[in-house]
Amino acid sequence: MKGKFITFEGGEGTGKSTQIKLLAEYLKQKGKDVVTTKEPGGTEVGQDIRKLLVCGDKDKFDALAEALLYFADRHVHMVQKVWPEMEKGAWVLSDRFADSTMAYQYYGYNKRLSKEIINELYKIAVGDFKPDLTIVLDIDPKIGLERSFNKAKNMDVKELRFEGRELEFHNNMRQGFLEIAKAEPRRCVVLDADKTIDELHGDIVRVINERLGL
Ligand code: TMP
Repeated sequence: MKGKFITFEGGEGTGKSTQIKLLAEYLKQKGKDVVTTKEPGGTEVGQDIRKLLVCGDKDKFDALAEALLYFADRHVHMVQKVWPEMEKGAWVLSDRFADSTMAYQYYGYNKRLSKEIINELYKIAVGDFKPDLTIVLDIDPKIGLERSFNKAKNMDVKELRFEGRELEFHNNMRQGFLEIAKAEPRRCVVLDADKTIDELHGDIVRVINERLGL
């Protein structure tokens, strides 16, 4: 495919959406066509799936039901948006992708669901396709959750279903992201997100230049 697919991963309150906006501006200045998107909720039907997943009681689904819904959202996202935009040559920046399912639904829930199920769902929903680059923003969950709760104060709809989980869930999920990145060093880069917005943007730009060459 002509374009690129860059995914941003990490726990709650790592600053992914702010950094994606800044990177999009930077890449546009460099002459790239840029599309920013997110999971869950990067398409119209995905918005409905997102509501089911991120609002309401934290125990309303188990890990398997969550994984199935995230992959349903992901499949529609790839088919309707990511692949068509990449075909046109766009650099697609996504706020979360499949590493989030492994980190939240597998590691977060303390491996209650098997890794094979998640890998199998990936093959069914996405096939052999992988991101060109994955940037994992890493932060101590205590700091990230505080940022996330502060942000939610200004939201009409409270998307706090995962924030409501115990700290152990968030610590497991953080370790999960680090393990995923360690296992796939060519695709993944971990950056310390406990920095100023400008410092972190500088780190991201450096990684993009090193890995993808502009
Ligand atoms: P967001 O708030 O970063 O947009 O993400 C929505 C929530 O969904 C967030 O708490 C992380 C969670 N999530 C999963 O548990 N599994 C997934 O596969 C994805 C994409 C997100």
